[in-house]
Amino acid sequence: MSLPQKIGFIGTGAITDAMVRGLLTKPAAVPHVMVSLRSADISARLAGDFPQVLVSGDNQTIVDGCDTVVLAIRPQIAEEVIRPLRFRDGQRVISVVAATARDTLLDWIGADVRLSQAIPLPFVARRKGVTAVYPPDADTAALFNAMGNAVECESKAEYDLLAAASALMATYFGIMHRASEWLAANGLPEGKGRAYLAPLFASLSDTAILSGDDVPFLELSHEFATRGGLNEQVFRDFEAEGGSQAMNSALDRVLARIRG
Ligand SMILES: NC(=O)c1ccc[n+]([C@@H]2O[C@H](COP(=O)([O-])OP(=O)(O)OC[C@H]3O[C@@H](n4cnc5c(N)ncnc54)[C@H](OP(=O)(O)O)[C@@H]3O)[C@@H](O)[C@H]2O)c1
Repeated sequence: MSLPQKIGFIGTGAITDAMVRGLLTKPAAVPHVMVSLRSADISARLAGDFPQVLVSGDNQTIVDGCDTVVLAIRPQIAEEVIRPLRFRDGQRVISVVAATARDTLLDWIGADVRLSQAIPLPFVARRKGVTAVYPPDADTAALFNAMGNAVECESKAEYDLLAAASALMATYFGIMHRASEWLAANGLPEGKGRAYLAPLFASLSDTAILSGDDVPFLELSHEFATRGGLNEQVFRDFEAEGGSQAMNSALDRVLARIRG
């Protein structure tokens, strides 16, 4: 297991910005980073903030100059960007391009590279990102562990399931939004709902992380629900009125979309 000496990014958009910041926040996890000039404002800011960042206007120079190359362009233009590049056999390549199959990527790359796929989330910038990685690869996992936590997937099926789970982020905030809206409608002054709910949800997630992987969520749910109490009542109503069913069918639909 080793971290890259020189990691290069093809595409310098939102997710590259987050990854580079996560990797180079002191103490830096890698010594050298190359990014493509595009988007010019983001690459200029990264180079200004971190002396380890080199900017190049030529994608091939990045591939040639780095032991690890991260593909971070949008799926719509990925083929036209990747196909002309010449990769080295054995080179490490990490694709974060959404919705693009491994075989397709290997066909575009056209060399016998060590390809991983990953789903980094913006929290990698704060080294708090959980990242699904496929297939299992100690070096790729080490890289994402430096920015939070890597979860290695044994199969494409597992990877697709975690991609579906990552689609719950907007719903998480949506639940907080609906609850704070309800609080305001019932007379809680503006801002107090947010001030209460965000730390409440954060502490609940902290509790799940601190309890360790072997404590099921249902056990925590029971722990926070006194028999006959308020929490038990809300969860029972939520289930009875189709809350869980709505979430499950939304996940079914998003998984079907991911599988294509
Ligand atoms: N954002 C996320 O949270 C996230 C999370 C996981 C995965 N992803 C995936 O990561 C990929 C990038 O997402 P993003 O949100 O970072 O997108 P983005 O902000 O649109 O960034 C894409 C970057 O690619 C650049 N680009 C376009 N053509 C290029 C070329 N020929 N050579 C080099 N760079 C080129 C764009 O530059 P210009 O602006 O100059 O066109 C832009 O900097 C996508 O496939 C997305 O699905 C994103």
